[in-house]
Amino acid sequence: MKYLVEQSASHLNIKSIKYERKYFPEGEVYFRILEDIKGEDVVFVSSIMPNNFLDFLFLIDAIKNAGGNIKKIVIPFISYARQDRIYSFGEAISGKVICSILDDLNIPLEIFDIHSVRLKEYFDFSSKSVLSYLLGFVPKKKFVVVSPDRGGLARADVIADILGCRLFFIHKKRIGEKIFMEFLNKLNGEDVLIVDDMISTGETLIKSVNLLKKAGAGDIYCISAHGLFVKNAIERINKSEVKKIFVSNTLPLKSSKKVSVLDISSLILGKHGKGN
Ligand code: R5P
Repeated sequence: MKYLVEQSASHLNIKSIKYERKYFPEGEVYFRILEDIKGEDVVFVSSIMPNNFLDFLFLIDAIKNAGGNIKKIVIPFISYARQDRIYSFGEAISGKVICSILDDLNIPLEIFDIHSVRLKEYFDFSSKSVLSYLLGFVPKKKFVVVSPDRGGLARADVIADILGCRLFFIHKKRIGEKIFMEFLNKLNGEDVLIVDDMISTGETLIKSVNLLKKAGAGDIYCISAHGLFVKNAIERINKSEVKKIFVSNTLPLKSSKKVSVLDISSLILGKHGKGN
């Protein structure tokens, strides 16, 4: 079995097939497989980022044309999954467009912690989660688990079940760029574990931490599958009252003061992973 590890997943510790990528003067991208993979079984591992979907598709085509037999596509992180339906008149359902194209490939797909399982309406894939693996690195405490929005409740419920603890959620509304959040429960110094699929700007996390502290939380930890940390998210998180965040390396990241990045490459290979 050979692996083709591309772009944002290239930091995962998986032995991969060599290929050439070059750009023509007008910006078109070109791929060519540089190894003899004729008749070989291949696992294609690539996250789908906002700007690499054509690369993703071209590489799959190059593998097929080089005689590789793609047994499975593993997508550690998939962008556009938040746009899973029409929220305002006239919008594109970007998640559906991506999914329909993936579906046409007719290759089994495995996706890690997709934002919305609603996308299963558009194509068939197997969902995997790194969250229970990340949980192994969180200090052993008597937590209450909190989902930063109602949409993430099912995800947080799995973790609350494993820990055998109570589960709460924060009421969250996005109006345009602005996020409004409200936590309606009271806490008595309990330590909190926030469970989310991704941290992007860090706004949701920081607002959640502030609300939970106001409501009486003790130490606050967070597990999140994907760490995008866009703009100055890390800086803002470091200044916040969160104790520690545990994320996986589905995206290329380095651990920092409050963020522990854990290697999940062996989960992709179907074994147990290790931390870094
Ligand atoms: C939202 O529904 C997601 O689960 C995340 O909570 C959200 O995408 C995080 O984004 P940000 O860090 O920009 O608030």
